[in-house]
Amino acid sequence: MPLFEKADRLKELPPYLFKEIDRKKKEVMARGVDMIDLGVGDPDIPTPQHIVQAMKQAVDDPRNHGYPSYSGMEAFRETVARWYNRRFGVDLEPLTEVISLIGSKEGIAHFPLAFINPGDIALIPTPAYPVYRNATLFAGGAPYFMPLVRENHFLPDLDAVPEDVADRAKVMVINYPNNPTSAVADLEFFKRVVSFAGKHHIIVCHDAAYTEMAFDGFRPPSFLEVEGAKECGLEFHSLSKTYNMTGWRLGFAVGNAQGIAGLGAIKSNIDSGVFQAVQVAGIEALEGNQACVSEMIEIYEARRDLMVHGLEEAGLETITPRATFYLWVQVPQGYSSTSFAERLLEEAGVVVTPGNGFGEPGEGYFRIALTKDKERLLEAIARLKAMKF
Ligand SMILES: Cc1ncc(COP(=O)(O)O)c(C=O)c1O
Repeated sequence: MPLFEKADRLKELPPYLFKEIDRKKKEVMARGVDMIDLGVGDPDIPTPQHIVQAMKQAVDDPRNHGYPSYSGMEAFRETVARWYNRRFGVDLEPLTEVISLIGSKEGIAHFPLAFINPGDIALIPTPAYPVYRNATLFAGGAPYFMPLVRENHFLPDLDAVPEDVADRAKVMVINYPNNPTSAVADLEFFKRVVSFAGKHHIIVCHDAAYTEMAFDGFRPPSFLEVEGAKECGLEFHSLSKTYNMTGWRLGFAVGNAQGIAGLGAIKSNIDSGVFQAVQVAGIEALEGNQACVSEMIEIYEARRDLMVHGLEEAGLETITPRATFYLWVQVPQGYSSTSFAERLLEEAGVVVTPGNGFGEPGEGYFRIALTKDKERLLEAIARLKAMKF
């Protein structure tokens, strides 16, 4: 086979830190171990039936079989605008301030191509969803990492960004409720972000994929609720977690019209929009009966309580999350993120994600995704308790 040299942009990507754990996972699985995988953030609950039914009907309709509009059906964008108004009290102009996405990941990954030139700085949190960094690199940009540490409630310390870096930065990414730390942000923080972005002429991208997955009655705010936010930023949203639709690939970006137009210009040269039947299902999801969202919250809240309690009994220190289906747990003394995750896998058959895989300040933590039912979580706890560390 001839060797095809990969493009520099692929070679530039940092090493994949989950390689060793993936290899171990296969090895443990091959031994026939009953593995409990709490590694991936993919809901185990099916998409609600009324959404599935809407999709089925829409698939039968030939009007949905052609190329969709690049930016999304007007009916979908109007639905998103109404949802934003109901949920956050934010007004959006459907045709210029809303765009459909093939999952929020797609929009987040394409956005830097619209605004980052080679050498431009993007302020990126760390630990974080790796797409922010990698998409910046693909666009030739230079990520400047903002550490998320416990002492600062896993919020970036904006005052710690050097003045010359802030002045040269073009884009800043934030994500609350946060993956992987499960931290939440309040409007005070978003206000500081808006004022920082205004001062340094930065476009803010807020990844809001988890705003609907929050507990104890907490309703995470939208970044766009802050006065002036629309002048400097966009919010990326997803139906994946709220409606258990990860496989359907539907999300949207809203906010600053120039940002939306730039993203749209890139997308129209790469993809041809979201299958209309999926958008029709999305309209049903956002506009239909929302009891499924409360049920989803109840399920994860119960799993969270069970797991936090179980981890404490096993002697592990964790923070009780107010949102997301992740637990960000400190590794016991004497271990690194990787060595502890490997031991859990080897001895307990439990898969977790080592925190350093999300960025260097994630060292000393591991992430648990609450994506298995209570019975399996109890089994995981029992195995953890049987270990000595
Ligand atoms: C923080 C965060 N943003 C975005 C996404 C992408 O979600 P989707 O592309 O399914 O909308 C994920 C998925 O896990 C995520 O954790």
